[in-house]
Amino acid sequence: MTEFASLLLEWYDINKRDLPWRATKEPYKVWISEIILQQTQVVQGIRYYLKFIDKYPDIVSLANASEDRVLKMWEGLGYYSRARNLHATAKIVVNEHKGVFPSTYKDIIRLKGIGSYTAAAIASICFGLPHAVIDGNVYRFLSRYFGIDTAIDTAQGKREFQLLADKLLDTDRSADYNQGIMEMGATVCKPKLPLCDECPFSGSCMALVNHLIADLPVKAKKVKQRPRYFNYLFARCDDTIYIERREGNDIWKGLYQLPLIESDKALSADSSSAFLGCEAVLINRKKHILSHQIIYAQFYSVSVSQLKRIDEKRFTAIAIDELRELAFPQLIVDFFNERTFLTRE
Ligand code: ADE
Repeated sequence: MTEFASLLLEWYDINKRDLPWRATKEPYKVWISEIILQQTQVVQGIRYYLKFIDKYPDIVSLANASEDRVLKMWEGLGYYSRARNLHATAKIVVNEHKGVFPSTYKDIIRLKGIGSYTAAAIASICFGLPHAVIDGNVYRFLSRYFGIDTAIDTAQGKREFQLLADKLLDTDRSADYNQGIMEMGATVCKPKLPLCDECPFSGSCMALVNHLIADLPVKAKKVKQRPRYFNYLFARCDDTIYIERREGNDIWKGLYQLPLIESDKALSADSSSAFLGCEAVLINRKKHILSHQIIYAQFYSVSVSQLKRIDEKRFTAIAIDELRELAFPQLIVDFFNERTFLTRE
């Protein structure tokens, strides 16, 4: 075992957090936890995980669920294709693998929605297999400790870090080693204000010695965020409002929304009714930032008869009480929550 691994495991044995998915080696539960943790931090992740496992305690129950219910479980986490992939993979494991989760890295990584990170996490945590995980926490910790400035979002960077991670892995304790290195990145070697005073590696950390903590890891590309302009129509009649389901290959596929008309720039007060094709009064604005897009949303109040001028059949009336059963993008949930009709119980 390398000195690096022995220091890491010694630290992890004392400092590891007591997390619900650490009480099991069931691949189904570890898989769910790892996909949730790709979307959110541990504290919020625990809530989603417990809710998810309570509702779908095993892979058969997830496979038998409707996509709408699974998306509802995922509401607020974002990146909803992860939830759709979880559901699709559960069905495949049940129908094609007799409900038994595959137990080799090669078979695990074949599953939809499972890449090298998730496959290595499941293979090591559940089956003790010698596959080193690399997530954002690991990139940060390794790049700082070893002073590596190869960009982590390039093919060369990925290769270099994977080689290093594989070399460092303690293959006898790959489950603890992998969780330990992620835990170190998440709780000590944090992006901002890392706790170097408490870090057992600080005596030999290249970034600390060379004052490069803030400069590592290096990323080559700056993500371009495309602006989009969403005009949502809020049409309420007594205790019903009109909604539609998002279809097609775009963000939030399968989620519900208020009737939407997209424009290629922000609509002004005097152009909005003409563009939307109905009389509309602006009632709210929201900006929603995604990894590759910025959504500028404007919400308009319209009458039902005006809404029907746009399309008689496209939209569905739904009782306000039933909205809570469906999954909406977070910006629409926020819009609803700001209107008293949904929060009034
Ligand atoms: N981040 C994602 N998965 C993790 C795990 N299993 N342990 C620690 N941090 C993690």
